[in-house]
Amino acid sequence: MARRADRLAELAASLPSAEILAADLADDSGVAAVADRIRATQDLELLVNNAGFGTKGRFWEAEGQETMHRLHVLATVSLTRAALAAMVPRRRGAVINVASVAAFTMGVGNVSYCSTKAWMAVFSEGLAAELASIGSPVRVQALCPGYTYTEFHDVMGADRSTVPARFWLDAEFVVRESLDALERGTLFVIPGAIYRWTARVLRLLPSGLRRRLAIANGRRMKRA
Ligand SMILES: NC(=O)c1ccc[n+]([C@@H]2O[C@H](COP(=O)([O-])OP(=O)(O)OC[C@H]3O[C@@H](n4cnc5c(N)ncnc54)[C@H](OP(=O)(O)O)[C@@H]3O)[C@@H](O)[C@H]2O)c1
Repeated sequence: MARRADRLAELAASLPSAEILAADLADDSGVAAVADRIRATQDLELLVNNAGFGTKGRFWEAEGQETMHRLHVLATVSLTRAALAAMVPRRRGAVINVASVAAFTMGVGNVSYCSTKAWMAVFSEGLAAELASIGSPVRVQALCPGYTYTEFHDVMGADRSTVPARFWLDAEFVVRESLDALERGTLFVIPGAIYRWTARVLRLLPSGLRRRLAIANGRRMKRA
């Protein structure tokens, strides 16, 4: 599912079997339509909460802050509840929440993105613990990729050339890492050694130091 029906139809035509659903997940009626479709699928094996976007600029200046929270947070809540309502009693199924390595940062110029992705990571961790506490085999994964070649940066209007080539991941690699890790039941999946180390270091930093680094980064942004 996505908003652009023509792109979905094109993709579906290249697959042996697929059903498409065009809906806007930042809109209540769109979320309700997808949640209804999920509830009608009793044997759903996997829900991937993937739809997302980024913005450029400070929180009070950049457009799309509310839409981002509706898409990354509220849609994820509704669709995950719809899926788990059948998966938990059936004792089968999985949910992948596509967060980001940004979940571990405090991005000046990226406040809503980092905080909604941090929410997705903490939400996934809490859900996984809740499921484990009742002995459920249903799995939850927080996928936390770094810079990945997709249309994300085009939609956002960001210049990819400002990020060195060694930081870029291939989308197929990210998906493979995620699905392999789902088999193993890994909760936090961070594709690529460079990002695994970045996340590890960021999680170890005292919050005061993380704040100072974020402020220094914001000052650099102001000068630029
Ligand atoms: N690319 C990266 O560097 C990167 C890094 C870390 C995490 N991520 C995360 O990965 C996820 C996938 O992004 P991507 O990189 O694949 O970007 P993308 O190529 O721009 O894909 C975004 C997808 O979400 C759909 N979408 C966007 N807004 C929607 C809405 N309101 N309702 C329904 N569908 C919507 C888009 O389709 P329509 O426009 O047709 O609706 C598109 O299929 C996002 O959650 C993103 O935050 C990306």
